[in-house]
Amino acid sequence: MSVTAFGHAGHKITTASLREHKLRHEPISCLTAYDYSAARIVDEAGVEMVLVGDSLAQTVLGYENTLSVTMDEMLHHVKAVRRGVKNALLIADMPYGSYQVDPKDAVRNAARFVKEGGAEIVKIEGGEKRAELVRRIINAEIPVAGHIGLTPQSVNVMGGYKLQGKDLSGIEQLRRDADALDRAGVSCLFLEGVPREVASIITAEVGTPTIGIGAGPDCDGQVLVFHDILNLTFGHSAKFVRRYGDVAALMTAAVQAFRADVKSHQYPSDEESYHLPKETKASLDSLLANPPTRYSSWQVLPTRKVNGNGDHVAAD
Ligand code: KIV
Repeated sequence: MSVTAFGHAGHKITTASLREHKLRHEPISCLTAYDYSAARIVDEAGVEMVLVGDSLAQTVLGYENTLSVTMDEMLHHVKAVRRGVKNALLIADMPYGSYQVDPKDAVRNAARFVKEGGAEIVKIEGGEKRAELVRRIINAEIPVAGHIGLTPQSVNVMGGYKLQGKDLSGIEQLRRDADALDRAGVSCLFLEGVPREVASIITAEVGTPTIGIGAGPDCDGQVLVFHDILNLTFGHSAKFVRRYGDVAALMTAAVQAFRADVKSHQYPSDEESYHLPKETKASLDSLLANPPTRYSSWQVLPTRKVNGNGDHVAAD
């Protein structure tokens, strides 16, 4: 039996290939995706990793931060993305509350992403303090991605979304976090919101590939949020976000044009309408040219009579 992944042409990215990328100094690209169409676009563009990030809380579900999104909501989106991803490595973000409370629940929830969602790897936030949990999840045969620095699920503890590792003790803590997760066996390490210099040191120190977001160019790979690069997020965007397209402008123009066409009777045109078969049309035209008396000869109508009061009554 052939075991070509998913039976599709192309190069399937695995956790092993991530390490090879690092060894060969080949940058790794990663984008978030939250639904089938985005997943197809990202995967077919050859992006190596697709992350169903808990950022979908804000980008897709309109929550204020990532804390509210639930396991079921995340799973719903992971399943949709799974159906669109063939070659990229599919990462599911474990939402707040799904791994912080009880390690057994954490493993069970991680397994749901694999079993029900088809994810190949799960991501959890936090450094040293998560090393033991990372081992437990890996022991359950589930690869783990680490995530340190600015970890959005700790927004209330950090007192906002703040750059991390700005002073020497902060740098030291980040190095310890990275080292602990590397030793625990993470398949990659997301570095978010840390100075370039710090990301560069960590990238050189750990064996696992680092994937930066707001962490400068020296990481082994880069991740951005799909909606950010397309200008589909509303409001302020961070300094590290680069816009590669203005999809919001395209969508707005298309929606406004549709509305205007409807209002001015320009949509739909005759070409955009369905038509009767020729013979039916000819019969209809002759009927319309020579209108039958009401109710008399339209074969399709049930035979009905009008009684002496002008009421319609069923035929005998
Ligand atoms: O949820 C997310 O989108 C993320 C990244 C951007 C790293 O965690």
